[in-house]
Amino acid sequence: MSASPSPYLTQESEYNLSEDVVTKITEMAASFPEKNSALIPALHLIQDQFGWVPPPTIKQLAQLLKTTPNKIYGVLTFYTMFNLKPVGKYHIQICRNVSCSLLGAKHIIDYLTKKLHIQVGETTADGKFTLTLVECLGACGMAPVMMINDKYYENLDEKKVDQILKTLK
Ligand code: FES
Repeated sequence: MSASPSPYLTQESEYNLSEDVVTKITEMAASFPEKNSALIPALHLIQDQFGWVPPPTIKQLAQLLKTTPNKIYGVLTFYTMFNLKPVGKYHIQICRNVSCSLLGAKHIIDYLTKKLHIQVGETTADGKFTLTLVECLGACGMAPVMMINDKYYENLDEKKVDQILKTLK
């Protein structure tokens, strides 16, 4: 009878970078005098593969970029655009900065928490939505604003939020 693999090993292999991602990171790194300069685009590629940046991928990335996991963590935790834990199929990032706040962001945030039955930072039980607060999304003239995955939604009110959520299956 063979022993089952340890959960740690299973988890590691679950988070192996794809060949495609490894190739792209290697090519990017080779195009810079310092391999480390490819760090941010490499983190985006990892996030595209998994939806977040799983810790086991940091070791793999450190080897590819000839740097240390600690240096990668420093960059990873500085930028809010990188997810440090898994997010739902639809990642709602809503701006809470000045323009959006003045035009009702707090009300929209409260509305979303009630509608989705989650608090800020949480994911719905079905794994569909994650709600995150972010600073300025650079669309202040259209406040209040949120992003869902890569798409912007502007001039939000309750009715618009209802319509948007209805389209997300
Ligand atoms: S303040 Fe919300 S997008 Fe700038």
